[in-house]
Amino acid sequence: MHAHFIKILISKNKLTITNHPSPIIMDLLTTFFFYALLVTTTKGAHNNPSPCSESKPDTSGLSIIHIESQCSPFSTQKPDPWATTVLKMASKDSERVSFLDSLIKEQKTTSAPIASGQQVLNIGNYLVRATVGTPGQLMFMVLDTSLDAGWVPCSGCLGCSSTMFSPNTSSTYGPMDCDSAQCSATTVRGLMCTSSGPEACQFNQSYGGDSSFVATLSHDNLSLGKDNIPNYAFGCVNAVSGSNIPPQGLLGLGRGSLSLMAQSTSLYNGLFSYCLPSYKSYYFSGSLKLGPIGQPRNIRTTPLLHNPHRPSLYYINLTGITVGRVQVPIPQEFLSFDPNTGAGTIIDSGTVITRFVQPVYNSIRDEYRNQTQGPFSSLGAFDTCFSVTHEKVAPTITLHFQDLDLKLPLENTLIHSSSGNLACLAMASAPSNVNSVLNIIASLQQQNLRIMFDTVNSRLGIARELCN
Ligand SMILES: *[C@@H]1O[C@H](CO)[C@@H](O)[C@H](O)[C@H]1NC(C)=O
Ligand SMILES: *[C@@H]1O[C@H](CO)[C@@H](O)[C@H](O)[C@H]1NC(C)=O
Ligand SMILES: *[C@@H]1O[C@H](CO)[C@@H](O)[C@H](O)[C@H]1NC(C)=O
Ligand SMILES: *[C@@H]1O[C@H](CO)[C@@H](O)[C@H](O)[C@H]1NC(C)=O
Ligand SMILES: *[C@@H]1O[C@H](CO)[C@@H](O)[C@H](O)[C@H]1NC(C)=O
Repeated sequence: MHAHFIKILISKNKLTITNHPSPIIMDLLTTFFFYALLVTTTKGAHNNPSPCSESKPDTSGLSIIHIESQCSPFSTQKPDPWATTVLKMASKDSERVSFLDSLIKEQKTTSAPIASGQQVLNIGNYLVRATVGTPGQLMFMVLDTSLDAGWVPCSGCLGCSSTMFSPNTSSTYGPMDCDSAQCSATTVRGLMCTSSGPEACQFNQSYGGDSSFVATLSHDNLSLGKDNIPNYAFGCVNAVSGSNIPPQGLLGLGRGSLSLMAQSTSLYNGLFSYCLPSYKSYYFSGSLKLGPIGQPRNIRTTPLLHNPHRPSLYYINLTGITVGRVQVPIPQEFLSFDPNTGAGTIIDSGTVITRFVQPVYNSIRDEYRNQTQGPFSSLGAFDTCFSVTHEKVAPTITLHFQDLDLKLPLENTLIHSSSGNLACLAMASAPSNVNSVLNIIASLQQQNLRIMFDTVNSRLGIARELCN
């Protein structure tokens, strides 16, 4: 029953999105199938009639769905224990970390309007519903706080596997030329323009060893909830080659010039926040709030640091870490922000578990082990797993940012093995194949917190919130 409903949902989605002109009927169908799916699978389990629907009061923002949640059309059909899901997702972090690291090391390019394959590969953790075009076509877009440009798979795309946007049925769609400001003002990898002129602004970007995609820089309406952003510039993906095909669209929430925030300043004042749902809450969603309305009034903030070489990334000033009552000894050079090398700390929605550079992680782990009872074993990316019976005495981890201390809730520090016998410290050093200089505060450490990004005043706010 369960698998059956998901299949219907996906095929209906595809069918209506690619062929059906009416977004209203499409929306109703989608809602109906989500609802049917939910009722079928959770009958009696929850009081909330339809957590998958987008029927929240205005101030609560847009739903953020975890990609493996029941509300996601991309969810794998057989639910794994959540710990297994997290482990699987965390195993893909190394690609993300390599990618973020390559971003900071690639200093000649000041901005990349279209996602490189590596970043679109396997990094979709959280989705929001958006519509593109007139009439609007529903897309599920991955939130990405470290990328600027959005992109969507477009109809006719060779090799794309998912729901596609049909430019031909949108009256407001237009491709951008090589001489458009967005195309010529930015340095783009794989730009196919031979000379500036009325030729379409196309890119061929490679990813991984064997894959690449071609996209056309385009503009069309982007609608998020009730808001409409006309002439939103994004990449319309026309062809994908190779084995790793990213199925979703992507919504770039970075800080750079082609990001959603930069393209909607009159509407949102460069401000957004999200609250990510717990990985454990299979059915529920978090929220994305765009613009100043509905943001928490009293929220502690830390400055966002600006790296002119990597304008998309949200650098923050991590000054120290406390485990229990012990301030972990960390040489400042591993925490200091250095725009030239790219070193420092970023906050990112696309990485699953927080990664520290090796010496920082080792110090945290050693102190953590010192205050916890072993024996210790490894599980996937985690090297400090111990019997859950010792969890009660496990120390609290506090991240000290400039002007803001974040005491991590237990749920954001420890993860349980699927058997339930082990608790693991849910952090790691950068994967061994990546010689990273970046510390990355990742999504597992951001669960049930409201994270507010104020790109105009360069501040990041963090407040406790139960967002499921
Ligand atoms: C797209 O934007 C144009 C111009 O603002 C507007 O007239 C049109 O209604 C929008 N379409 C949708 C679906 O919101
Ligand atoms: C869209 O329209 C153009 C020009 O009218 C046509 O060449 C193209 O094949 C159409 N694409 C699709 C996917 O229908
Ligand atoms: C991009 O260019 C490479 C090298 O020219 C080519 O092999 C590949 O097929 C192109 N990608 C697409 C999607 O056309
Ligand atoms: C662990 O605790 C022991 C004894 O209290 C102490 O000597 C040692 O330095 C500690 N190690 C770390 C890494 O803090
Ligand atoms: C980070 O914070 C520390 C402590 O407040 C301060 O001394 C340092 O200058 C800050 N670093 C940056 C790059 O602002």
